This record gives sequence, C-alpha cells and structure tokens, in this order.
Amino acid sequence: MIRRISILLVVCIGLYAKTSAQKKTISQRVDSLLRLMTLEEKVGQLNQYSGRQVTGPVSQVKTNLLNDIKNGWVGSMLNVKGVKDTREIQEAALQSRLKIPLLFSLDVIHGYKTVFPIPLAEAASWDLEAMQQTAHIAAKEAAAAGIHWTFAPMVDVARDPRWGRVMEGAGEDTYLGSLIAAARVKGFQGKQLGNTDAIMACAKHFAAYGASMAGRDYNAVDLSDQALWETYLPPFKSAVDAGVATFMNSFNTLNGIPATGNAYLQRDILKGKWNYQGFVVSDWGSIGEMIPWGYAKDDADAAQKAMQAGSDMDMESRAYKGHLVKLVKEGKVAEALVDDAVRRILYKKFEMGLFDNPFKFSDYKREAKVLNDPKHKTVAREAGRKSIVLLKNEAELLPFTKSKSKIALIGPLVKAKRDLNGSWTVNADTNQIVSLYEGMKNKFGKKTELLYAQGAEVEGESRAGFDEAVKIANQSDVVVMALGETWDMSGEAKSKTNIHITGQQEALFKAVKATGKPVVVVLMAGRPLIFNEIVAKADAILYAWWLGDEAGNAIADVLSGDYNPSGKLPITFPRSEGQIPLSYNYYNTGRPIKDPENIIYKSAYIDSPNSPMYAFGYGLSYTSFNYSDITLSADKLNASDSVAVSFKLTNSGKYAGEEVVQLYIKDEVASVVRPMKELKDFKKVFLKAGESKTLNFTVSKEKLSFYNSKLEWVAEPGDFEIMIGTASDNIKFSKKITLQ
Ligand code: BGC
Repeated sequence: MIRRISILLVVCIGLYAKTSAQKKTISQRVDSLLRLMTLEEKVGQLNQYSGRQVTGPVSQVKTNLLNDIKNGWVGSMLNVKGVKDTREIQEAALQSRLKIPLLFSLDVIHGYKTVFPIPLAEAASWDLEAMQQTAHIAAKEAAAAGIHWTFAPMVDVARDPRWGRVMEGAGEDTYLGSLIAAARVKGFQGKQLGNTDAIMACAKHFAAYGASMAGRDYNAVDLSDQALWETYLPPFKSAVDAGVATFMNSFNTLNGIPATGNAYLQRDILKGKWNYQGFVVSDWGSIGEMIPWGYAKDDADAAQKAMQAGSDMDMESRAYKGHLVKLVKEGKVAEALVDDAVRRILYKKFEMGLFDNPFKFSDYKREAKVLNDPKHKTVAREAGRKSIVLLKNEAELLPFTKSKSKIALIGPLVKAKRDLNGSWTVNADTNQIVSLYEGMKNKFGKKTELLYAQGAEVEGESRAGFDEAVKIANQSDVVVMALGETWDMSGEAKSKTNIHITGQQEALFKAVKATGKPVVVVLMAGRPLIFNEIVAKADAILYAWWLGDEAGNAIADVLSGDYNPSGKLPITFPRSEGQIPLSYNYYNTGRPIKDPENIIYKSAYIDSPNSPMYAFGYGLSYTSFNYSDITLSADKLNASDSVAVSFKLTNSGKYAGEEVVQLYIKDEVASVVRPMKELKDFKKVFLKAGESKTLNFTVSKEKLSFYNSKLEWVAEPGDFEIMIGTASDNIKFSKKITLQ
C-alpha cells in the first residue's frame, strides 16, 4: 500500500513538474516574443475584427481588412468559420512581420453544426454531465471547423423574463448557475486547451448584465454590493475556478460606471482578488459605447479608460487600433498595461498550440468527419428530452399509453423548424431539424392517423384557420397543440414589456378546448411566457423551450412515455408582468402575508397573489415520489463540523423516473436580512417503479455563509432551517439546526 502511494506521489510530482515546466516555457516564449514587438504590433494583438466582410467575394472592404491582417493589426477575428475561410485568413496573418497567428472566435452558444437545446432549456435538466457533454460536442465540431474560441457560456444570473437574453443563461439561481457555468467551461475546454476537440470558453458578460433595469437590453444596472457579490459574481468565480480561458465584459453600467471601463470589476476583482490569468475581451463595440453612455468624450478617451480598467481586447470598436499607440506615446496609458494585455493574449495562442501549427484546427478531413458524426444527433435528442418540463398532467392524460387512432396536431409551431433552434445559431442547417410533426410521425405514424391544422399564426389577428382546427379536433381522440414564440422573439435585443403568449394563440386554444377533446399544449419559447388560460384549462402542458435539431423526436419521446419527463424550472414563471422581477429567494418583509384573505397593509398586491404561476424548481413526472424517514446526524454544529441529512426517496408510482431533490436553507436571524430560501444543493436521482434509495446531503458552515455588510463571507451563529423539497414551493421536510 505504502509503495503504491509513493509511486502515485512520484507520478503526481512528475506531472506537476511537467505542467509547470510547460507553463514556464510558454511564459518564456511569450516574453521573448514581446521583446521583439513594436508598440504597433503589440496594439495589433488587442484588436478583434468581425469577419463577415472578409470572407466571400473580393471587395475593397475585404482587401483593406486583409491588409490590416497582413500588417499585424489584428489579433483575433470573430464570425469567420470553416476550414477554408480560417485557412485563407490565417495565411494572411502569417504574412505579417512576426507571423503571429490569429485566434478565430464565434458565438458557439448551444451547438455548432448540431444544435442542442438553448442554454435555459438545458438548465431545466439540472443534469450537469449532460450539459458538459453538449458543450463538449459543440466544441469538438467548432474546433474541427477552424474555431479556437467561443463566446460562451453566458453565466449572467437572470430574473427578468422581459429580458430576451434569459434564453442564453442558466436562469435565476446563483448556486445552480455556478455549477452549470463550471460544467459548460469544462465541456468546451475539454481535457486540455490545445487539444483539437477543445476550444477556449468565455465567461460573459462581466458583470451583472442580467440585472439590466426593467429587463431592457443594454441598459444600466444599479446593484447593492450584497447583490453583486452574493448573486451575480459567483457564477463568474466558478468559471474562473473551472479554468475558463477568457472573459467578456458587458454593455451595462454597474452603479454608474460602464462595465467595460470598470476597474473595480476587471482589475480589482477579476485580475486582482481572483488572480485571473486569462484575458478580457470587450463586448461588441462596448468600448465605443462608453461615449453615448456619457463616460468617455471620444474614441481616444474610451480607449484610455477601457485599457486602464482592464479590457484587454477590443471587439469591433476599433478604438485601440485608432488611439492606443498615441495614448502610450503621450504617456496617457502606461505601456506596461498594454504589455500585460498582449502577454495574456499571446499566452493563450501558445497554449492553443497555434505557434507550433497555426492550421492545427483547420483540417479538411477532420471537419468532414466530425461535423457528420451521427452520435451527436443522439446526444441532442437526449438533451432535448431531459430539458422538457411537465407543468400539468390532469387525469394522467400523459403519457399516451393506449394507442390512439387519431391525434390532431394543431398550432403555428407544429411544423416549425427554424424556430426550434432559437436565435443563436452560427452554422445550423434548417433541413436537419426535426419538427414536432415529423417527430410525431416517426413515433406514432404507423398506428395512428395524424391530422394537422395550423389554426393561427404566432403573431397576428387572423382567426381564419380556427374552423379547420376545430374540425380536426372533433375528428380525433386527443389534441396536441404547439404554441409559443418564433426564433426571433427571444434572444439579444429582444426585450419585451408583454410576455403573454402572442397573437390569437390562446384564443385558438380556447376554441379547440371547447370541443371537449383532451388537449395537450406543448409550449416552445426562449423565455418564460404568460399563458394563464392554458394553465387553467389545458389537460396537460409541456414546456419544451427551443430544443434544437432533435426537438420533434424529443417531444414525441415524452408524449409517448418512452422518456419520463424530469425537467424542473430554472427560472420562475410569473402570473403577470407586474410581478417582475420575481424569484424564489424573496425576502419575508416586515409585513408578510399570513392569511391570503387578509392582505390589507401587508406586502401584497391588491390585484394578484404574490406567488408565481410556476415556481423555481417545479416540474412534474409521470410517476410520483415519496419522501420519508428524514434524519439529521445532529441539530447543532460548530464551525468546523457538518450535519448529515438523510432521508428515503421512493418511486411510489407506475413508471421509472428521475427526481431532482432540492436542498434549501434559511438563516433565521442574521446581521443582513436573508432570503426565505436559498438553494444549496441538489441531486438528480433515477428510481425504478417501487424502488427506494437513501439520499444524503451534508450541511457545513460553507452552506450557511453569506456576505455580511462589510462584504466578509461569514456564517453567523444561530438557527437555520434546512428544507428538502421537490420544488422551491413544495418542501417535504423542514428541520431546524443551530450553528454554535
Ligand atoms: C453579444 C455577445 C456576443 C457578441 C459577439 C454581442 O452583441 O452581447 O454576447 O458574444 O455580440 O457576437
């Protein structure tokens, strides 16, 4: 045994020595290169150009851009993809004096060729391994097409569904969001940067973009230090700990200072306190946007402020290109700051292996093979079905166990394809998307007749299709309706004041429901929508978000019962826009509602309950789970102890299935008022019908800690409530423990 441990130790020391030697070599190589560089060449590395006009037919713009690249004025390109184009442009970069290769970057958000569910949908799976896997496949495909770097994951905590970008993140919770941030970073970056199945990840948007005022994109953010540290920063820290190669700053201000020019965020926190060694890219044009914000008087001023604040690379403002050399020569910006930024960028180019082989990721054979790997489709289908949330299932209408002779498929999204991929696709092929109609044909087509009527458009006032829809509903045993949003209704620059389901869709539902036939509504959208009539009257509701290429097959798997839904909402669904922002971890206030019949002078609305339509963590299954036999190893703990919480989970229903068991805590009395619940742990557990398992959680001081008013991370002695539940509003056990 001792011998085995010694061998292991020797191997570990060997590996450590090897990696630190490699690192040293990279640092030395970076320093030697930096010594050869003119100031102009250094600034050149800090510029990122979009490639939309560089690829394609010859034009003056293309010639000018290629000349800039040949002259060493560009460090990175975005929006160039594919082996052919990346090769052509890299060849231009290699004509520069120092032959420094370019970094090719792209928004590979939820897939490159194979499109997986949108990030918010995947978050509903609470399945970290699955999310790591889809990110890894996305990286593998992108890397095979010449890409070195993705602008993902977006790790902004987002609690306002008016903000269209909720679709790109992991939802409202800091704890879940932090774990997902790490999983996605690991997925994109694989085992090691430099491998040809890995690309650099980018934690964005630093910071607090998700708190944009009133859910309006590109807006100001005003946050307390508590909220910043406790809610918005942890997913970024988690990405740092997972080794994320780059950061992107953001369009918003934070307490009056644009994030792009914010030294507190980028220098003090990120590069200082967190000792982050990667580099920071600005968001698109965000250096220049400091002018309309009223924070910089012109491009030169903006360049100076951004560089001083720690923005290393300028995405498309061209402010560094135009002014940084002069600013350094005039002594307004220290050359050491430029050197530091260049060092960080060159380090990544070395780490990616681009100096050894600038075409490492641009290999025609690999591109053809990896982009056509059929296994990726299988993973997309699995990810799709895991992301679906069953919101309602009256009288166990689902799954369709008994064969139906006729199913009516009604709604504007039944045959939709492009919409199912959402707004962030970069290389997708609409032909490869499986619509709900096709998925239903694949699953039920042999035994069941499928009738179809569009009924209405997603937007617009026409009811001309209602009669046909009602007619086929009357002819069928059951109706499946596909309603929701088109791909361009959620995403960047898609903020809305009204998130009710649009057009005549709810009216169409009412007309179809009036036939008396059982109706399953499948909602496809990039954000939580409001659909109160459907909630009240549908027999079953599936929230299917935008599930990507395999959406139709994934939904059919759930309708048929081949997959038992296990998704849980990663974001609260409000009853009305007036409740927003609304999240599960609210405060009790000094005037909580005790009796819903008596709300006068309570912290209440006189026209709506405070509660959401569907709470964070909510989602049904075809089976039922029974929670019993909770035990705590102690009801008191010291700072160095922990309490073990165990209980029995039994699948008490008819189907095998997965449950996401959630652990919440509440600090009863603290020096800073604490939320009513905070998610601190969870487990996703598979149980066969009738099977039981004992589950264990550990509650330590760390889980009881928070930022006090001096921003110290502390756990204060006193009582805490430990809650175990199946949703944030469905707690099965609640126990008190005391920290001594
Ligand atoms: C978005 C970023 C994105 C960038 C590059 C910006 O408008 O905010 O998230 O990565 O464009 O496409």
